[in-house]
Amino acid sequence: MELWNEQGTKPLDASKPQLWESSSQREASRMTDGKDLLSPQPRPTVRRLSSATADFKGLNIGPHVVVPPKHMDSPSNAHETAAALELAKHRLKDLDSGDGVVTPSTPPETTTTDSYAFAFDIDGVLIRGGKPIPEAVEAMKVLNGQNEYGIKVPYIFLTNGGGKTEQERCVDLSRQLELEISPGQFICGHTPMREMAQKYKTVLVVGGEGEKCRLVAEGYGFRDVVTPGDIMKDNDRTTPFRRLTDQETQNSRVRNFGETEIEAIFVFADSRHWGDDQQIIIDLLTSKNGRLGTSSENYDEGPPIYFSHNDLIWSAAHEHTRLGMGALRSSLEAIYKSITGKDLVSTAFGKPQLGTFQFATRLLQQWRKDTHGINKPPETVYFVGDTPESDIRGTNEFNESKLSENDWYSILVRTGVFKEGTKPRYTPRITVNNVLDAVNHGIKREMSKASKAQAKNTEEAIDEIVDGVPVGDE
Ligand code: G3P
Ligand code: MG
Repeated sequence: MELWNEQGTKPLDASKPQLWESSSQREASRMTDGKDLLSPQPRPTVRRLSSATADFKGLNIGPHVVVPPKHMDSPSNAHETAAALELAKHRLKDLDSGDGVVTPSTPPETTTTDSYAFAFDIDGVLIRGGKPIPEAVEAMKVLNGQNEYGIKVPYIFLTNGGGKTEQERCVDLSRQLELEISPGQFICGHTPMREMAQKYKTVLVVGGEGEKCRLVAEGYGFRDVVTPGDIMKDNDRTTPFRRLTDQETQNSRVRNFGETEIEAIFVFADSRHWGDDQQIIIDLLTSKNGRLGTSSENYDEGPPIYFSHNDLIWSAAHEHTRLGMGALRSSLEAIYKSITGKDLVSTAFGKPQLGTFQFATRLLQQWRKDTHGINKPPETVYFVGDTPESDIRGTNEFNESKLSENDWYSILVRTGVFKEGTKPRYTPRITVNNVLDAVNHGIKREMSKASKAQAKNTEEAIDEIVDGVPVGDE
């Protein structure tokens, strides 16, 4: 059985836990090398960019927070969390690349609690069909201090969705929720794919709108990115029933595929043309070394294929769930098996893979170290999701794994994939109506934990005093 390392680039020792899912061993247990990458550094400045005017170029330069126009003159309550997590993510990146500067810094003054945090799924929890779920706006206000206790709680976003850079997703969400948000708060399904940019030279990138995923891949550092459009432009007989539009022809790049070896296939976002994309993927998987027009005799020479997540269904604008990337993966596996007689080996990132939750934990640990000087993740992370198979499964399995040193507490909402009256395949710690109820539940639970701890301390203090009083002779 083959296990993969965090980058999905080389097999792991089978005795260690697995971070990303290889199709051949979906149910395997997983573990980490547990390296401590945390070291304090000086605080760089975080720029503020308006969500109304932020452009793609500006979004790629240095740490920043995206700000709704109404907050441009002065920061909103959400600014502190957004900026601090942005810096924490930049530090993790520097540390991972070996550029981390080890310079102690004093944590800033803060009113944000460090003992717990929230992590949110996006589709079906905060957004549905491009529009905010009404309670989401209120939930964010509660986390940013508008609650009866006057506390602020940190939060991040863990979405399987993609097809845009983390920066662009951040601008979208900032506009939708009218909230200050930083890319540092974002982890997308395809975020880990950036780690594979140096491993492969020429790659096929599938999915998303127009040229967006090519740009995301190039932004991640992939050196030579091919799209299905490039292949169709080179040979218009590739897909018998579809021709490129004028716009697609203009965007697609000219290249001689007779001389090109495609080393890997990355499905970055949901395919917009399943039939055509599947045809091209199958052509490559059954080729000799990723060269189109060739055919492998034993079907063991094709390039590897990676998916940014494995959601079979997801919650969009339609009243019923829609087919997602996991459905494309399943149908490709079935087609491949029918053609070759063999099982397709593929790898999926995103939730419920443990690597996603491990990265989120490291981000929150770095944030806590920077802001509170404590080198441990918050004791509890409340994960709010709508999809039992991705959100609840991932949270529960991570929580039960050796990778987790804190408590990941799963909360299922009724605003997305999960429907009342059905039994979720993975059981959450609690099910609530919507994200606002989830936030209120977490905060109340923490408050009651704190008051119980306080009562216990008082009781112990009284016991100590009583025990310390000398008992006199009667
Ligand atoms: O394609 C997006 C989808 O499958 C789920 O996104 O935010 O619910 O993880 P999210
Ligand atoms: Mg969701």
